[in-house]
Amino acid sequence: MTQGDWQRDVLRDLGRQDAAADAPPAPDRPAPGPSAAPPPPPAASSSEPVGPHGDVSARLAGPVPHPEASQQPAVRAVRDPRLPMVTPESLPTVDPRLAHAMGRPRHGDSITRRTGRSLQKLTASAAQEVSEETHLARALQQPVTTGRVIAVTSIRGGVGKTTVAALLARTFNHYRHDPVLALEADAALGTLPVRLGAKSVRWSCRELAHLLTPSMQLTDVTGYLVPVTDGGWLLPASQGRIGAPLDMPTYRTVSLALRRYFAVTVVDCETLPGEVARTAMDTAHARVVVAPMTVEGVGGTRLVLDWLAQLPHSALATTVVALTANSPDMTLDLKAATAHLRETGVTVVALPYDRHLAQGGPIHTALLGQATRQAATSLAAEAMERAVKAR
Ligand SMILES: Nc1ncnc2c1ncn2[C@@H]1O[C@H](COP(=O)(O)OP(=O)(O)O)[C@@H](O)[C@H]1O
Ligand SMILES: [Mg+2]
Repeated sequence: MTQGDWQRDVLRDLGRQDAAADAPPAPDRPAPGPSAAPPPPPAASSSEPVGPHGDVSARLAGPVPHPEASQQPAVRAVRDPRLPMVTPESLPTVDPRLAHAMGRPRHGDSITRRTGRSLQKLTASAAQEVSEETHLARALQQPVTTGRVIAVTSIRGGVGKTTVAALLARTFNHYRHDPVLALEADAALGTLPVRLGAKSVRWSCRELAHLLTPSMQLTDVTGYLVPVTDGGWLLPASQGRIGAPLDMPTYRTVSLALRRYFAVTVVDCETLPGEVARTAMDTAHARVVVAPMTVEGVGGTRLVLDWLAQLPHSALATTVVALTANSPDMTLDLKAATAHLRETGVTVVALPYDRHLAQGGPIHTALLGQATRQAATSLAAEAMERAVKAR
């Protein structure tokens, strides 16, 4: 099957979804209540795929053939008997008692800077900017033969992995017409749903590992996912409760099954060297390692890059570093930090400090600073270039 065929299949599937907009609400949309449809019965004993909306097979034709379908190991079909049969309840991503305390979202750039920019737009440098943007857009819109997975990780927490993953997912959604998935694979109380503006979550990787079957259509699968306001889909790692962490087999099952449906999957991983993070790094088509702009952050990341260089199938060649400043007080020399990381042969993209990102909470694309947007676009383009070339 050609690239075009694959993309057409997915788009056709999405088109059907639009046509089925009158169907009962998906489980992540407003409260279906306690009478919500239970998860499908074990696939092993079921001849027809049953989605979260009930029996969807009446609405949709047969499964979408996929070029990789025959090569991929079958999705785990036997349901874990320890899992409850009921639909998980929809839980808010931010405690309502806290939500009102978030404060007004700020713009990433000050008013002075924004005014300066609108004046600058009238100058000659604008033409060069447009040509750069066209170049990046082309990289971001490349067709893909099979779903590409881009994993985001770092050597420690709180450096900006989830922020980078959210920015990448938003960027791909902005530029691409085929479906994009933001997959959370952070075992510990991840924040990707909040950053992507999801109000509530219901299904997570844990349940989907048992629910996904190879015969499912994209429309069946998206019923279990959270639609992101700016476009695309999200699958959280958990419901944000303290509980069993995401394990490696669950990640493998879910990521492998879902990449059949999405042109690009951005994975927000836990920190290295966690088992899930290592698996995600190893199985992704491209990797983004987030390094904080501190001497220990850059030093530690260099060690990770040296480790990647030793892995088979040249993992370093498909890696990009995002050098992030999540405080306005970072003093490390950007040139020296970049040069230190580039010695390994890796590409480095600097993500500047952004007031809007620093606030936490949902990321509003319109409020991102200009430099942040440019950095996110460059980073996404660099990652995509590598993901497309990967085996
Ligand atoms: N580019 C940035 N500019 C300003 N603050 C940032 C930036 N990136 C991240 N932050 C801040 O750092 C915090 C932690 O980022 P997060 O993406 O959650 O890290 P991680 O996923 O690695 O734990 C965010 O809540 C935000 O306040
Ligand atoms: Mg995180």
